[in-house]
Amino acid sequence: MKMNSISKLLSSDKTSHEVTIKGWVRSFRSNRFIALNDGSIIHNIQCVLDFENTDESVLKRITTGAAISIVGVLVESKGKGQKVEIQISKIEVLGDSHPDEYPIQPKRHSLEFLRENAHLRIRTNTFGAVMRLRSALSFAVHKYFTEHGFYNFHAPIITGSDAEGAGEMFKVTSLNIESPPLNEDTKVDYTQDFFGKETNLTVSGQLEAETYAMALGKVYTFGPTFRAENSNTTRHLAEFWMIEPEMAFHDLDMNMDLAEDFIKSVIKEILDTCKDDLEFLENRLLQEEKSKPANQRSEMMLIEKLKFVVENNFKRISYTEAIEILRNSKPNKKKRFQFPITEWGVDLHSEHERFLVEKHFKCPVILFDYPVGIKAFYMRLNDDGKTVRAMDVLFPDIGEIVGGAQREERLDVLKNKMDLLGISEKELWWYLDTRKFGTAVHSGFGLGFERLVQFVTGMSNIRDVIPFPRTPNNADF
Ligand code: 4AD
Ligand code: MG
Repeated sequence: MKMNSISKLLSSDKTSHEVTIKGWVRSFRSNRFIALNDGSIIHNIQCVLDFENTDESVLKRITTGAAISIVGVLVESKGKGQKVEIQISKIEVLGDSHPDEYPIQPKRHSLEFLRENAHLRIRTNTFGAVMRLRSALSFAVHKYFTEHGFYNFHAPIITGSDAEGAGEMFKVTSLNIESPPLNEDTKVDYTQDFFGKETNLTVSGQLEAETYAMALGKVYTFGPTFRAENSNTTRHLAEFWMIEPEMAFHDLDMNMDLAEDFIKSVIKEILDTCKDDLEFLENRLLQEEKSKPANQRSEMMLIEKLKFVVENNFKRISYTEAIEILRNSKPNKKKRFQFPITEWGVDLHSEHERFLVEKHFKCPVILFDYPVGIKAFYMRLNDDGKTVRAMDVLFPDIGEIVGGAQREERLDVLKNKMDLLGISEKELWWYLDTRKFGTAVHSGFGLGFERLVQFVTGMSNIRDVIPFPRTPNNADF
C-alpha cells in the first residue's frame, strides 16, 4: 500500500482519489474532525470521520498523541481553514496515547516545561518547525560547500592534542577512574590507557582540517565539538555542532568574503524553501512580543530580519576601530557596561559585540585584526607585531557567530609563538609539518551551527535549537 505524506497531499491540486496516511492525532473535536500531523510539514490535515458508523471502542482511542492510520478520499474542504480534507473510509489506531498521561496537550506549553520533555517536545508545532529548519540548514551548508568546490572532511572526535586552547576539554578514558594506574610520580599513568596517552573530545576540527586543506585545497568539517566550560548562558552548549571550512591560498580578506557569502547563501536558501515553518515561527514571535513592553520589542520581524542580512553588506572594521567606538559610546561613559572598555587590548564581551551590531551599526559586523594577546596561537601575526589576522562575525541577538583567522604559515614565527605560550612542539609535530613541506597562505573559520539555527528561527535559548541539549548539570535523554 502506498503511503502519502501530508506535505505532498496539501500541495497537490488533485482531489477525489483514495489516499493512505499515517500520523499522530493533534486534536479530535465533535467526534468528527481529526487534525492529523505526520511531521512532514507544519500543517495538519483535517480528516473527517463518519462517527455514526464508527465503533465506540475506536472513537475512544482517538486521543491527542495517538498514532493512527487512515484510508480515505481527498476532497475539497467546505470548512474554513483548509483547502482539502480527507473523508475517512477506514481508520485504525496503531498506538494509543493515554489522555491523562500524555504531556503534550493542544495548548501553549512553556519552553522550560518542554525542555524537561525533550523526547516529546518535537511533537509541538514550534519544535517541529525549528527542527525541520535545522535539517534544511544542515543540507544548505553541504550544498553550499559542494557547489563551491569544497570537500567534506571528517575530523576526528577523539583527539590527542589539546592545543587549540578553545576551552576546557572532556577527557576520554577507558581506565577505571575509581582506581586508575599510577606512575612513579603518583600521577595517573595514561600510557596504560586505551590510546596509550591522554585523550579528549575535540573542541574544534581546525588543526586537522588545515592538514587536509594543504592537499585538497578547500575542505570543510561539520561535526560535533565539545567544551567543558561552565557557561550557563543562552548561547553556550557543552556539545555543539561546528562548521569549519579551511582554504589553502586564501588570505583574511578572502576568508571574510567567504564567511559573508556563505552565511547569506544558506539563509537565502531557507527563505526560498522553508516558508511555512518560517511564517509559523514569525507568528510565534509576534505573540511573544505582545507581552513585552514597547521599548523592548524588536524593530524587525523574523523574515524581514533574515532578508536584511541577505541583502546588506556586513560592516567590516578592525578591533582598534571598534575599541574607539566602544570607548566613546554612551553605555561606556555612563558605566552601563558590566565590563567597561578602558584600554586597547581587552577582550570583548557579548555586551560590547551586541552594542556594535544592534545599536551602533544596526547590521552584522566583522571585526578583524585583534590583539595578539587575546587570540589563539595559530593566527597570523601582522607586521605591527601587536595584532593577528583574526576575524569574528557578530550578529544581532546572537553576538559572535563565527570565529576565524588567516593562519600563521611561517614556521619560525609559529614556533616562536608556541614557545612563548608553552605549547609543545613535540605534541604538534604533525601540525608543524604542514609549515615545513609546501607551506602556503591559508585561512578558515568556525561557525557555531546552533547559533545560526537560533538566528534563523528566532529562538532565544540555544537549548531549544538542538534536539537533546548538553549543558552544565544536564545530560538527560
Ligand atoms: O571562536 P571559536 O572558539 O573558534 C574555533 O574553535 C576555531 N578553531 C574555528 C576555526 O577557525 N576553524 O568557535 C567558533 C564558533 C563561535 O563563533 C561560536 O559560534 C561557536 O563556534 N561556539 C559555540 N557554540 C555553542 N556553544 C559553545 N560553547 C560554543 N563555543 C563556540
Ligand atoms: Mg571565538
